Amino acid sequence: MEVIIRPDKEKATKLVAKIIAKAVREKPTLVLGLATGNTMEPLYAELAEIHKREKLDFSLCRTFNLDEYVGLKAGHRNSYRHYMNEHLFKYINIDIRNTHLPSGTARDLDRECEKYEQTIKECGGIDLQLLGIGRSGHIGFNEPLSAFFSRTRVKALTPTTIAQNSPLFDKPEDMPKRAITMGVGTILEAKRVITLVVGSSKAEILAKSVEGPVTSMVSASALQLHPKCVVITDEKASSNLQGRDYYRWIFENEPEWEEYR
Ligand code: GLP
Repeated sequence: MEVIIRPDKEKATKLVAKIIAKAVREKPTLVLGLATGNTMEPLYAELAEIHKREKLDFSLCRTFNLDEYVGLKAGHRNSYRHYMNEHLFKYINIDIRNTHLPSGTARDLDRECEKYEQTIKECGGIDLQLLGIGRSGHIGFNEPLSAFFSRTRVKALTPTTIAQNSPLFDKPEDMPKRAITMGVGTILEAKRVITLVVGSSKAEILAKSVEGPVTSMVSASALQLHPKCVVITDEKASSNLQGRDYYRWIFENEPEWEEYR
């Protein structure tokens, strides 16, 4: 795992956007894993901007989102399908038929999860998976004790996650208590992972995820096992990291980061 610290969340976000843009240019048929949440909103705005400004071409890309709430129709304003359409898809030239999210209203949810895994496989696997980290340490909706070999499935949400996300609902009590999520095992199979974590509210969980023991109590700690994972963060979120100086040195000195400095 590599950790890159940028001075603020704007710079961290722009760096992630640049890495994604480069990956799309290098492989126009890129299979991109996408995340939701507040952290991703400015990132998607930046990608839309790069598409407009530099004609970044998404027409052949395929996307797979990490998760979707159980019980919310695609058109519901809090569904992740709605989030993706509103924050990214409608601003770029992606073919909407190539954008995948699990359906939270499928009659047979287990079958829906199996189909999702199958579709990822048919597309050749995920080339680049974008991730955020929730306050419970989740990636996707893999709440504590998610098996590291888990696949796409239905997961019950923790009180921490419900407290974090329910204010986004008109009536907070309407937030679903379950979600379909890619498994930790599904995520670990992505060829490359980029995790964006910003803001002081994430400092504690980031330190546990990156420098703490690998444990299913903190799903994001599984990323320490991934051979090609970079965590891009800002000064605020990185304040509890013991290796801060070393991580800063990496960005300033390692040749692979030269083009981004
Ligand atoms: C949500 C999503 C995650 C996301 C996380 C962080 O619940 N399921 O994929 O990474 O929580 O969200 P935020 O960026 O709003 O802190």
